[in-house]
Amino acid sequence: MRNISIGSGSTLLVSCLLFFSTPLAQAEISEQAQLGRELFYDPSFGGTLEPKKISGLACADCHADFDEDANPDGKIRAGHSIIGVPQRGEAKGGMIKADIFRRAAGGGGFCYQHFLQRVPENKVDPTAIPEEQAEALMAYFEHVSGKNKGPQFELQMLDKEGAKAAADKIVAMKGDAKKGWKLYSQACNDCHPTARKAGIGSQLIRRKPPSNVPKQLHKYAAKIRGGGFIMPFYSEDRLSDQDIADIVAFLHQEMTAGR
Ligand code: HEC
Ligand code: HEC
Repeated sequence: MRNISIGSGSTLLVSCLLFFSTPLAQAEISEQAQLGRELFYDPSFGGTLEPKKISGLACADCHADFDEDANPDGKIRAGHSIIGVPQRGEAKGGMIKADIFRRAAGGGGFCYQHFLQRVPENKVDPTAIPEEQAEALMAYFEHVSGKNKGPQFELQMLDKEGAKAAADKIVAMKGDAKKGWKLYSQACNDCHPTARKAGIGSQLIRRKPPSNVPKQLHKYAAKIRGGGFIMPFYSEDRLSDQDIADIVAFLHQEMTAGR
């Protein structure tokens, strides 16, 4: 809808429309969906999580709650938009099947334990999320999706070997450090501020370059494609091999630039 192009002069009209339509749109949201929205943005998940265990991440850090193709905001999130989740029927490349789909908040139950509470992947129970909150998230997904089926994608989740093979390919490509810096700021900066500071993610660039730069770059490429413990993986439709090669070129430049 926001893609409609308008001549100059109608800006005022559009702002008025936005101004008047916002309270209306909000009035339409059910109480349950509103709770879901709040949970989606809240790293404490409504205050139900153990302060000592939480990562500080919220669902919204890794997923858009709007159609990113129709209304891109320039950010590159590791997860796909939650638009269309209710219609998918299974999640995590088939790991979460139809029988537990709703109870596991369409796959969000996995992320709830793993990314928000740092439960190791192999110990995650995707249905451990409280039922009321799973329902609230699903109500919110339905609210923002309407009839929109959301992004179509096939998920590849790589094991260590797969991530290594992907990294072999990526480090053999020629990257553009300038493009890489832009991509880095769109995708990585929230968790790895400026690459030289630790945030939720670790400090990637240290004062002294690593003793084996190519090995470090290979490790970094594998981490982006394959993910880490909390570090989310980026599938090829989020960051292409070329995008990662550009990011690696940027990190290479920073690593060897000194200070
Ligand atoms: C650190 C990043 C991160 C956080 C935080 C996170 N997710 Fe995810 N999530 C992912 C990734 C990566 C995937 C797998 C790729 C994908 O399917 O989009 C995923 C998958 C999903 C899926 C399944 C999509 C599918 O069909 O495979 C849903 C639904 C989801 N997350 C919802 C949530 C909810 C709800 C929260 C908050 C409780 C959350 N996520 C928190 C990164 C994250
Ligand atoms: C949602 C938060 C988040 C985002 C976004 C994120 N990371 Fe991370 N990253 C982490 C965390 C947390 C770690 C610490 C190790 C772990 O938990 O896997 C990490 C670790 C890493 C490591 C390993 C560092 C080491 O010393 O071994 C690399 C490399 C890395 N991230 C690169 C990136 C790049 C490049 C991007 C952008 C494409 C990115 N990360 C986006 C959270 C994030």
